[in-house]
Amino acid sequence: MEFGIASNLEKRKKADLLVLPYWKGKNKPEGAATISKAMEKCSSGPIQANDFTGKESEIIIVYDETFPEKRVALLGLGEKEKVTTEKLRRAYCSLTKTCRQKKIQDINLVLPTVASMDHKGIIRGVCEGLLLANYAFDQLKNHSLKDSPTVLLTKVTLIGASQHDLDQAKKYAGIAEGVYFTRDLVNGNADEVTPQHLAAVARGLAKTFPNIKATIFDKKRIEKEKMGLLLAVARGSAHDPAFIVLEYKGDPMSKEHTVIVGKGVTYDTGGLNLKPTGSMETMKCDMGGAATAFGVILAASTTGLPVNVTAVVPATENAMSALSYKPGDVYKSLVGKTVEIGNTDAEGRLILADALAYTCKHLKPTRIIDFATLTGAIDHALGAETTGLMSNDDALAEELLKAGNETYERLCRLPLYEEYRDQLKSEIADIRNIGGKGAGSITAAKFLEEFVDKKVPWAHCDIASTAFLAEARRYHPKHATGIGVRLMMQFLEQI
Ligand code: BES
Ligand code: ZN
Ligand code: ZN
Repeated sequence: MEFGIASNLEKRKKADLLVLPYWKGKNKPEGAATISKAMEKCSSGPIQANDFTGKESEIIIVYDETFPEKRVALLGLGEKEKVTTEKLRRAYCSLTKTCRQKKIQDINLVLPTVASMDHKGIIRGVCEGLLLANYAFDQLKNHSLKDSPTVLLTKVTLIGASQHDLDQAKKYAGIAEGVYFTRDLVNGNADEVTPQHLAAVARGLAKTFPNIKATIFDKKRIEKEKMGLLLAVARGSAHDPAFIVLEYKGDPMSKEHTVIVGKGVTYDTGGLNLKPTGSMETMKCDMGGAATAFGVILAASTTGLPVNVTAVVPATENAMSALSYKPGDVYKSLVGKTVEIGNTDAEGRLILADALAYTCKHLKPTRIIDFATLTGAIDHALGAETTGLMSNDDALAEELLKAGNETYERLCRLPLYEEYRDQLKSEIADIRNIGGKGAGSITAAKFLEEFVDKKVPWAHCDIASTAFLAEARRYHPKHATGIGVRLMMQFLEQI
């Protein structure tokens, strides 16, 4: 989707639809451009008849042959005094969905204005609502057999906008590219999106963008690095594991270095502790953390963010075969710590343990943030609205919570009290990979904490309930959401 601007309504070009903003309780549309008497007139009918009240996300389309667009959408934004960036996202998401139904591709949109909110927040709400909803995953459908591909918006002209507004809109479009990239990777077939495919995607990014560098370890090198936990999980799979380091240097002079570690389980069968029917079908989503990490690198590079950020992805399938790693056996991690396997379905923490330890040892991180579809328990605690946050550093956690509120990719922090560590005691090894009955998300994070250098600020985001949705919600499509990309872009901008 491409953004354009026109300083006023007279300067606009022909399009499929004209969108006028409308605040609840007002008697006419109002926005950043002077709306003509003719436009007011064509909307006065539905307003006076109370067919349109302007409540948040309400849309009505009226027709007037005299306008170049012929169709005019009145878009309700709710009460002017109560508007927020998030409410705008939702309203412009609804608009995008209406356009899709009507196969509208090119729109002229009068920007809303409101004194109580900063202009940046308005542009952000409008653009993000449009962009995040403007996505469809059609790649696995055969269009010659059934319905034609989804019609998406291709052009949005912001009327009453400045060049500065356009620059901002383009930045959000760049970030959305990262979100789409993440969604596509997660939505792809697990049989296609293998560890080798993730490695190829990383190489592709490095080839396209001069400030991105990819380093990929194959199985031999992973053995040489003694990543015993990644190797254990990978044993049951027909696909070799890969260990991927993707660096973006937007500030080469600085030593500041944020590392995003992403869980890259390309399919999680549970291993020998096989998942039951009903729990396995969505497990192509288990590389969601990896996809988020890649999405951030892409978004940082396209928007030219002046920071240094690296994605570290341990990639493997958790499959079941005669070679699978075994419950009850003990495996040695990169740092030498031994792990008793209580359950082969708790595989994410194993591969992340080696990745976190590798990061601390070799990459000189200023901070580490990991993203992982780690536990089913986080869904019981927080559901699909909120990502679980756990951290060894208050300042880092605060900064992430703030970024969560700004982007509405909200987080809730759970404690890492040392008493939870007791659940991971093993009689035969240094640690066990599962805890007891309660606090499943926290004990998973306590396991990870063991492999992070205590001096390094680290945060863990459990996205098991937010990365992949059974049903669409607002501007999050059904299935992959791409959660974490906007959050991290905001975070990196903040620090
Ligand atoms: N990949 C799953 C977690 C998951 C569940 C992600 C639902 C997305 C949706 C993870 O590897 C897993 O299986 N965790 C187990 C841990 C348990 C065996 C301690 C779980 O949460 O049940
Ligand atoms: Zn699992
Ligand atoms: Zn998993």
